[in-house]
Amino acid sequence: MSKTTIKSTLARRVWDSRGRPTIEVEITLRYGAKGRAIAPAGASLGIGEAVESRDGGDAFGGLGVEAAVATVNGEIAKTLKGRDAADQASIDKLLIAVDGTADKSRLGGNTMIATSMAAADAAADAHRMPLWQYLRDSNGQPAPTFLPLPEIQIFGGGVHAGGRVDVQEYMVIATGADSFAQALDWTAEVYRAAAGLMADKGMLQGVADQGGLWPNFNSNEEALELLMRAIEAAGLTPGQDISLSLDIAASQFGSKGKYHLARDGRTLDSDGLSGLLVDWIERYPIVCVEDPLAEGDKEGMIRFTWAVGKRVQVVGDDFLVTSAERIRARARDKACNAVLITPNQAGTLTETLAALSAARKAGFNAIASARSGDSEDVGIVHLATGWDIEQIKVGSITRGERTAKWNEGLRIAGALAALAGEDGNIDGPLPPAGTFPWGK
Ligand code: PGA
Ligand code: ZN
Repeated sequence: MSKTTIKSTLARRVWDSRGRPTIEVEITLRYGAKGRAIAPAGASLGIGEAVESRDGGDAFGGLGVEAAVATVNGEIAKTLKGRDAADQASIDKLLIAVDGTADKSRLGGNTMIATSMAAADAAADAHRMPLWQYLRDSNGQPAPTFLPLPEIQIFGGGVHAGGRVDVQEYMVIATGADSFAQALDWTAEVYRAAAGLMADKGMLQGVADQGGLWPNFNSNEEALELLMRAIEAAGLTPGQDISLSLDIAASQFGSKGKYHLARDGRTLDSDGLSGLLVDWIERYPIVCVEDPLAEGDKEGMIRFTWAVGKRVQVVGDDFLVTSAERIRARARDKACNAVLITPNQAGTLTETLAALSAARKAGFNAIASARSGDSEDVGIVHLATGWDIEQIKVGSITRGERTAKWNEGLRIAGALAALAGEDGNIDGPLPPAGTFPWGK
């Protein structure tokens, strides 16, 4: 018996940022160390994602998690009692075996990821370390040398904004920033400037699901134009200091061959949508495009990546669903060149890490990601830093569930500086030159 032996596993129902029930798992170890994690929830789901356990019925629109809570407090608690929380691979293997389905639908992907993450968090606590540090230390790795570069939403859209525009996320990446803190500073200025410009036009109307401004635009492209003006109004240079990034989430408005852009009043085929995005890339400083085509439109993804993949990150989210197998297959096809790493799509930490190492082998860049329905849980920032993931995407720079994560990044930056003996420097270094296609 050791300090990382699991004594008890407990679940409770808590709330996510959309006011929906979700599950929190708390694991207590033999000598009192504790860890916990809250499952996030997506709105734009990939077909191959781990399936959530939801109660159905009338309460909370069918989104209750009573069954998931009962599963943890019964079956999972019994299975994990006496196991070693520091042996993540075995914990996750057990969860997968007990679930017994290919899509994690019996226990639920939400149940499993919260349990898996809580085990890691508890093991870190037993070592009196923050999770990012424990993830390194337990592998004999030295401290991280950088924080992930933030990718931050300015306008929401798609299913996160009632379909007001079709594109799901208009984001910025501070491609010219020298530190994590500076990337946040610049983005906050851009957000303020964008809100000011919208207010001037009488277009300001609250925020979307991830804290980005509500997209009161007459076309999908108008958002890009306003974003450019906001960057300039903030005194920054588009394409140098700040570049643009889009999550098209194309599966939400079309499938192979037929994409309906309701806001623009037109329907495009795969090459038509691809052509529209290439045109935007030529006219705006866009450095990153996520899910440009639908998850089933592999041929379209291959053609798009061929056209722009040298200068732009073509990111698979729904297209890859944080699956090692899918990353390997689609890397062979050259159907994208970067991956969103979203733990609850995979369902366990071990499978998330397997997806990351498949991405590394394929030469893909990686972006650690929260979900549109999220919470104050900051585990994703620890995974990103502890695993050397070079980018992070957790929504906008407003709303507590988002700022909880940016602020945790600042704390980790401070801790890294302290470890390096640099008193007071809390800015947080960013990934080294050569990491990204845009050069810095
Ligand atoms: P989701 O949105 O959590 O609703 O899937 C995030 C994303 O698509 O990147
Ligand atoms: Zn996405």
